[in-house]
Amino acid sequence: MAMRRPKISVIGAGNIGGECARSLAMKELGDVVLLDIPDKEGVAKGKALDLACCAPIEKFDATIVGTSRYEDIAGSDVVVITAGLPRKPGMSRDDLVEVNSKIVKSVCENVKKFAPESIVIVVSNPLDAMVYVAWKVTGFPTSRVLGQAGALDVARYKTFLAWELGVSVEDIQGLLLGGHGDDMVPLPRRTSVNGIPLAELLSADKINACVERAKGGGGEVVKLMGTSAWYAPSSGTVEMVESIIRDKKRVIACAAYLESEYGLGAAKGKGMFVGVPCVLGAGGVEKILSFKLDETEQQFMNKSVGAVKDLVGLVTKMYPELA
Ligand code: APR
Repeated sequence: MAMRRPKISVIGAGNIGGECARSLAMKELGDVVLLDIPDKEGVAKGKALDLACCAPIEKFDATIVGTSRYEDIAGSDVVVITAGLPRKPGMSRDDLVEVNSKIVKSVCENVKKFAPESIVIVVSNPLDAMVYVAWKVTGFPTSRVLGQAGALDVARYKTFLAWELGVSVEDIQGLLLGGHGDDMVPLPRRTSVNGIPLAELLSADKINACVERAKGGGGEVVKLMGTSAWYAPSSGTVEMVESIIRDKKRVIACAAYLESEYGLGAAKGKGMFVGVPCVLGAGGVEKILSFKLDETEQQFMNKSVGAVKDLVGLVTKMYPELA
């Protein structure tokens, strides 16, 4: 019986898009389509060709196609959206809201038309508001629309903790909630080193320094290289794609649709997307894992949710039809 390989389309063939395509192929998660605007079709095709020639060395079987035609994303199992401007030094993710809303909106109109059965993972910033745009424009069920942020923010958090503790990154368990902005909510109380509570191994000051560095981790990279990060964001994205394609049911922090969870208290159909632990499988977001926050955690969460709400407010002011 012929079984086709999964198909994964990456919209935006820039730094994150290119690195995602490479990693998806290297892990043999499926055939990859790399799409950019007509002006950048050469970049999409050139990166695809260059990546395809890695195959004999890296020993993967996957086709990688570069294109600017949305017809080519038809039948995608997963669509990753990296289209949009990245940050420049001095910019916050929120500064991108106007230009990237327009881009993500136009991309999603095409995703709805050409890949109506796909699971959509948004990477473009400001992340949580862009996932909202994707949801509204595609009209897909909320299980099939999610955003990459937590996977990356958790990875940064674990990296800095592992350095501080002098232990392997593999032995740090940690979680993070909230929007992908300055108000993201790391949860040191729920972080452990193979089950040993973090607070028993590190002083409050040192924990706090790691938390703050994780929060500003994106900005630190922007300051160093003049544009935003792409290796770790791509790794985070591919971790999510892998859990979906291989139906692994990994628990990964993602921007997912919430109404009543985590004290949100939104009316039915009026919820928003914020980072929470999700079970990712073949159905996309198969479950949101909820747990009771303590008072401080809830305060931070409320603040972060408020920031996301403000951004979504800016989006719906520009595009009232998305309200
Ligand atoms: N359709 C498809 N691609 C588009 C569109 C569009 N309407 N508009 C822009 N693009 C493409 C650009 O041509 C560019 O190739 O998106 C790509 C973005 O690539 P980079 O500029 O290298 O940005 P990158 O670092 O990959 O970040 C992309 O992800 O994390 C976020 O903040 C980051 O919003 C940014 C996005």
